Amino acid sequence: MFFKLLTIFFFFLSFFWQSLKSSSQILDFTYNGFRDTQASISTQGIATVKPNGILKLTNFTRLKTGHAFCTKPIRFKDSPNGTVSSFSTTFVFAIHSEILMLSSNGMAFVISPNTSFPFSGPSQYLGLFNITNDGDNTNHVFAVELDTIMNAEFNDINTNHVGIDINSMKSVKSSPAGYWDEKDQFKNLTLFNLTRMQVWVDYDGLTHRIDVTLAPLRNGKPRKPLVSIVRDLSSVLLQDMFLGFSSATGNILTEHYVLGWSFRVKGEASPLDLSKLPKLPRMRPTGVRVFYEKRMPLIALLFIILFVFLVRFIVRRRRKFAEEIEDWETEFKKNRLRFKDLYYATKGFKDKNLLGSGGFGKVYRGIMPITEKEIAVKRVSNESRQGLKEFVAEIVSIGQMSHRNIVPLIGYCRRRDELLLVYDYMPNGSLDKYLYDSPKVTLDWKQRFKVIKDVASGLFYLHEEWEQVVIHRDVKASNVLLDAELNGRLGDFGLSQLCNHGSNPKTTHIVGTWGYLAPDHWRTGRPTTGTDVFAFGVLLLEVACGRHPIEVHKNSGERVLLADWVYGFWVDGNILNAKDPNLGSEYDQKEVEMVLKLGLLCSHSDPQVRPTMRQVLHYLRGDAMLPDLSPLDLRGRESVSGKYHGFSESSTFTTGSSIAHSILSSGR
Ligand SMILES: Nc1ncnc2c1ncn2[C@@H]1O[C@H](COP(=O)(O)OP(=O)(O)O)[C@@H](O)[C@H]1O
Ligand SMILES: *[C@@H]1O[C@H](CO)[C@@H](O)[C@H](O)[C@H]1NC(C)=O
Ligand SMILES: *[C@@H]1O[C@H](CO)[C@@H](O)[C@H](O)[C@H]1NC(C)=O
Ligand SMILES: *[C@@H]1O[C@H](CO)[C@@H](O)[C@H](O)[C@H]1NC(C)=O
Ligand SMILES: *[C@@H]1O[C@H](CO)[C@@H](O)[C@H](O)[C@H]1NC(C)=O
Ligand SMILES: *[C@@H]1O[C@H](CO)[C@@H](O)[C@H](O)[C@H]1NC(C)=O
Ligand SMILES: *[C@@H]1O[C@H](CO)[C@@H](O)[C@H](O)[C@H]1NC(C)=O
Repeated sequence: MFFKLLTIFFFFLSFFWQSLKSSSQILDFTYNGFRDTQASISTQGIATVKPNGILKLTNFTRLKTGHAFCTKPIRFKDSPNGTVSSFSTTFVFAIHSEILMLSSNGMAFVISPNTSFPFSGPSQYLGLFNITNDGDNTNHVFAVELDTIMNAEFNDINTNHVGIDINSMKSVKSSPAGYWDEKDQFKNLTLFNLTRMQVWVDYDGLTHRIDVTLAPLRNGKPRKPLVSIVRDLSSVLLQDMFLGFSSATGNILTEHYVLGWSFRVKGEASPLDLSKLPKLPRMRPTGVRVFYEKRMPLIALLFIILFVFLVRFIVRRRRKFAEEIEDWETEFKKNRLRFKDLYYATKGFKDKNLLGSGGFGKVYRGIMPITEKEIAVKRVSNESRQGLKEFVAEIVSIGQMSHRNIVPLIGYCRRRDELLLVYDYMPNGSLDKYLYDSPKVTLDWKQRFKVIKDVASGLFYLHEEWEQVVIHRDVKASNVLLDAELNGRLGDFGLSQLCNHGSNPKTTHIVGTWGYLAPDHWRTGRPTTGTDVFAFGVLLLEVACGRHPIEVHKNSGERVLLADWVYGFWVDGNILNAKDPNLGSEYDQKEVEMVLKLGLLCSHSDPQVRPTMRQVLHYLRGDAMLPDLSPLDLRGRESVSGKYHGFSESSTFTTGSSIAHSILSSGR
């Protein structure tokens, strides 16, 4: 009885021992992530297990290897000389290349007699072999390569393939990466675009068939394997072998990940629980694609900002150069110029291009785009838009007249309350520059006499030769411009009219320039051809004397009218003493005398005494002789000077021609 119990006890003991012994031999394992596997899996090289459980075989370091192997071997054969048992494994991996369309090396699932590969090479050797032992049957290495580079030395088929390797990097069989779907259609897969994929490797111990199957994650195992060969592994695998992964980096940085892995000998590997797999890390910003993806919001923002700026720029520009054409302007369309052109012509109305500024606004020099014609742009700001239409109409109609002694108007442009008048550029500027205050350049008498005749002829044209009587209203030295041949040309007419149009009809404003203003003009408030003649008379005296119409005596501060001053010389018996000393000796006495006397005659206070421009022209051209006048014939003069003096006391009045356009009401 006791003996029987003892044998039963020993039987159980030996059974227990047996089962204890066989349980020490690993037959299968399943890792849904590699957290807490330090005891069963060891890593070498640059391989690491990340805290989230992902097995990272390689990181972004060049020319290194990374290995991860089970620490305990697997028994593949029941006896050392036996056949290899069936086995099955599946794993999930992902490969991330620094460069979107390129990858350097791949990775491999490895069954090897040793867990360390101290002499193995990186790059194309995947950390498994080196140049001398590649292809050596004593390696006893079985591997499934997921190769992402094409090595001609290993007869690789492309840069993205799966192959079965035995003792060598030269695959026994390989296929482009992909899978056969349910309809037996082949689908390409890209191994290295950081997409997770699953691999199955199955070996049938009886038929010696090796199947390697690849599929995108969650796709399930395709029925048809990708690579399949029949090969007895008995001579390749030893009895106990180590299982693991090997990978290497080349010159293009690549990361290789294994997310989950299961294995079984003599049976099918248990399926992985995909939901438990560790997450792939977010892509590293070094990759080109990663760069764009991470920076996308920033890039988008930049684009948006750029776009907004562009739109703003365009809108501003459009607003800046917007043409406002009012209904009434359509009839003047062909005389209207584009603001944009004028803006560019004058380089944005730069001060550098400023020719001068008068009472109505600034005048800029410019060069028209395309035609490259030189122009002078006058910017007139007009507070009241009233009367603008009439003014533009008049300006345009006057602009249509062409006379060699009138500054041609090219066109106009209107913008809000601003009127831009565009004239031919007169390269020699205005007459006043040649007359007063010891000018740098002066004109000799011949030139001056020519200019006087030119102005007279221009004024005569306005008064009598054109369709209607045009009163210039602002004849003065600064409105006489000299063209390239020093011909005198009248400019600026009509502008004073603009002020009149815009004003309250009850209080007619007188516009003109002091010193040129006829007494009858400011008495009646009405300009006439006679008032133009008066101003022309003053201009004659200026040209002959080189003095301002009104000069202030340096010591007494007394204002002296030019006409009075000249008259004084005449009374004293030598009118020629009034002539401009800058004239030198080259002058025609008779002409100078005639001009001085004509000047006095024209600027007579009594409009009845003044000649018409027709007569003036006759005198100047020598077609008629100026009547032999004596000072007494022009006695009316004094009263004029008295009026001026009386007036000047009660108004702010400075000397010189720049007292332009003072406005006073006719009520006085
Ligand atoms: N067509 C032109 N060509 C060249 N210069 C001009 C032209 N028109 C005007 N200017 C210059 O611009 C200055 C100012 O002109 P303007 O406004 O007519 O003066 P003002 O009002 O005193 O008559 C003038 O002194 C002249 O030098
Ligand atoms: C790669 O891994 C190794 C080992 O963990 C480490 O020493 C190295 O700094 C890592 N390199 C990079 C670029 O992360
Ligand atoms: C295994 O085979 C080798 C030769 O191939 C032989 O020497 C050895 O005795 C064999 N062992 C067994 C247990 O059969
Ligand atoms: C593995 O390699 C190491 C060093 O190269 C060696 O010492 C060891 O014996 C090898 N083990 C096996 C099982 O071949
Ligand atoms: C290749 O590896 C073997 C061991 O597997 C070693 O003996 C040999 O020296 C290595 N060759 C090179 C070139 O490193
Ligand atoms: C799959 O890849 C092969 C070469 O690798 C190519 O010839 C074929 O056109 C690809 N098929 C598809 C659907 O992209
Ligand atoms: C990666 O490749 C797979 C198969 O080739 C494709 O389905 C997937 O869209 C690709 N992913 C990216 C991010 O390009």
